[in-house]
Amino acid sequence: MATINDNYLKLKAGYLFPEIARRVNAFAEANSDAKIIKLGIGDVTEPLPEACRTAMIKAVEDMGDRSSFKGYGPEQGYGWLRETIAAHDFQARGCDIDASEIFISDGSKCDTGNILDIFGKNNKIAVTDPVYPVYVDTNVMAGNTGNINEKGEYDGLVYLPITTENKFIAEIPTQKVDLIYLCFPNNPTGATATKEYLKAWVDYALGHGSIILFDAAYEAFITDPSLPHSIYEIEGARDCAIEFRSFSKNAGFTGTRCALTVVPKTLKAKALDASEVELWKLWNRRQSTKFNGVSYIVQRGAEAVYSEAGKAQVNALVSFYLENAKIICEQLTGAGFEVYGGVNAPYIWLKTPNNLSSWDFFDKLLQTVHVVGTPGSGFGAAGEGYFRISAFNSRENVQEAMKRITAK
Ligand code: MLT
Repeated sequence: MATINDNYLKLKAGYLFPEIARRVNAFAEANSDAKIIKLGIGDVTEPLPEACRTAMIKAVEDMGDRSSFKGYGPEQGYGWLRETIAAHDFQARGCDIDASEIFISDGSKCDTGNILDIFGKNNKIAVTDPVYPVYVDTNVMAGNTGNINEKGEYDGLVYLPITTENKFIAEIPTQKVDLIYLCFPNNPTGATATKEYLKAWVDYALGHGSIILFDAAYEAFITDPSLPHSIYEIEGARDCAIEFRSFSKNAGFTGTRCALTVVPKTLKAKALDASEVELWKLWNRRQSTKFNGVSYIVQRGAEAVYSEAGKAQVNALVSFYLENAKIICEQLTGAGFEVYGGVNAPYIWLKTPNNLSSWDFFDKLLQTVHVVGTPGSGFGAAGEGYFRISAFNSRENVQEAMKRITAK
């Protein structure tokens, strides 16, 4: 009989969001009258910007004409999109990133998991706790961890707790780690990182030969001009960081699928024979072999994000969700909840009342007011006793959900 990848058997339960969906669906089936409001998974609700739709419709027409028809595109993405991104997202912010260092993909979730293909098996890997569960689960699948312990932590991973005590900002480790996952603005806590804080990480990584896997999927929600949008705003980051970006949350592409990963050509890691190898070459090789690129139509849609109209429409979308976040923070704070995040970030992180466990609070909200959030413990052991509320929903639903929660 064929054998399996036994690492999958180490995974604790189902992936967090399908597990939530399963519980919500069971409740909905048993309570068909309940008008459930979902503020759980960070999935956008507002329509795609008109500029993106128009560009995609035009791209469909291109596909209908032999002279402009496209077959396989470059696995790395079309040059015109990579150039546009390099200019607007990086060079305009003073980041020394070239278009050839940008790889277009179908999602940051996929890329943060797939990136493990190019790293060795003996790396010491650090994650914050709580953390976006994909970073942990993909390391388990790749065999980079031992078993899960009774605390819900996997042996072999280094957990950096983020709590109220450190304002949800992980302390720089005293021990040496090789790979570090950072996410700012943070999923799930909504915390943000200053330039000084990122510089401390870059200095650490350069000093230890470590690599930072920087997830900037929520950078568009930064409105404070002093906060960095990219790790490459920090000197030296080209030599120690890979950055993940997405069109999902700023331009509403969660269903359309387009993202990008930046692998600077100066970034190196060690081979078994101790020689230093450029990670760009490995990622390029990996993508060329395992990926056939994002569709031409979707890439044209993503390009339109950077047009004058696109920029204005994306800003309006981001402002809309940020206003939702503000309403959630104000209402919950007013009702006596201990609330964090929600500023420069679309996630609100709250302490569960009366020391309820995260899942007990989830069940209570679902059953009594029919509002869905995400239990903090689903993001890691240190998330126990916390709860995440997403600002991605219509204004009407956000207001109604807050009315229901604060009335209780
Ligand atoms: C979340 O809710 O944490 C995100 O939607 C997950 C994701 O983007 O994959």
